[in-house]
Amino acid sequence: MELGDIDRVAVLGAGNMGHGIAEVVALAGYDVRMRDIEEDIVEEGYDQMAWSLEKLAEKGLVDEDPETVLARVETTVDLREAVADADLVIEVAPEQMSIKKEVFAEVDDYAPEDAILASNTSSLSITEIASATDRPGQVVGTHFFNPPVKMDLVEVIYGAETTDETAELAYAFVEAIDKTPIYVRKDVNGFVVNSVLGPFGDEAAWMVSEGEATVEQADAAMVHRKGYPMGPFELSDLTGIDIGYHVRKEAGKPIPPIVQEKVDAGDLGQKTGRGYYEYEDGEGTTYE
Ligand code: 3HC
Repeated sequence: MELGDIDRVAVLGAGNMGHGIAEVVALAGYDVRMRDIEEDIVEEGYDQMAWSLEKLAEKGLVDEDPETVLARVETTVDLREAVADADLVIEVAPEQMSIKKEVFAEVDDYAPEDAILASNTSSLSITEIASATDRPGQVVGTHFFNPPVKMDLVEVIYGAETTDETAELAYAFVEAIDKTPIYVRKDVNGFVVNSVLGPFGDEAAWMVSEGEATVEQADAAMVHRKGYPMGPFELSDLTGIDIGYHVRKEAGKPIPPIVQEKVDAGDLGQKTGRGYYEYEDGEGTTYE
């Protein structure tokens, strides 16, 4: 398969990353089927995509009007229907290996034989995910960053059996959707970015858990003194506290108490209206 053969893309997941990736792909002119397991999750994702496209249009950041882009997006809760005629499938399921493998086994049964199967996993082994299929050579990692529509980078990750043809096609596709790909040739936990970013969030979470700093101090220090666009807690609220939780769990790493506390309370960040900061009333960060 060549880049020109990719017309139809299936995105499996309509949460923050799923609808963001579907948006980027649709913005580049591709037909997209966005699928999640429940109707209301799919609808919420679609609405957020519409909100985002409106924002981009208001600021003159996109050439087409939101309706034209949205017309390229179909939604479904049926996995079989989503992947049946897809040339590329991008899986954006929760960060748990058992779920990823289940999804890939099912996709392998229903997607066309020559389709490329990509995972947006943040840190899990592409090799192991690919082992759930009969086409491990056609499985590759495409790791986007949150929010996909604003973040330029995408990691293109080789599993042990990923062919060069597959990885090169994924790389070309990432360029075609106006993002900047980098190859990650070693299938190590966290790949490149999260291997570097993980300790940033971890150190901050342990410091706060042990009473050595407050959430606001850690964020303010990184933003105002170090010039980061967001501090570790604000970033975690953006990406979802549960994502970092599952990444640590799957890697067998200890969970900092402050993270456990938030997960137990269901305060997962912006998406639930409350995480390390409050968002329900539009308050957001309070460290400034
Ligand atoms: N679509 C459209 N507009 C959006 C948007 C979206 N998805 N998300 C935010 N906006 C809008 C806001 O509503 C706001 O609009 P307004 O101007 O009308 O109020 C505007 O964008 C915010 O603009 P700002 O000028 O304040 O911020 P920037 O656009 O300059 O930057 C940012 C925002 C890109 C999120 C920046 O803060 C940043 O880079 N943060 C760090 C993000 C990051 O590191 N992401 C990676 C996380 S790790 C990850 O994803 C890996 C995974 O595996 C866990």
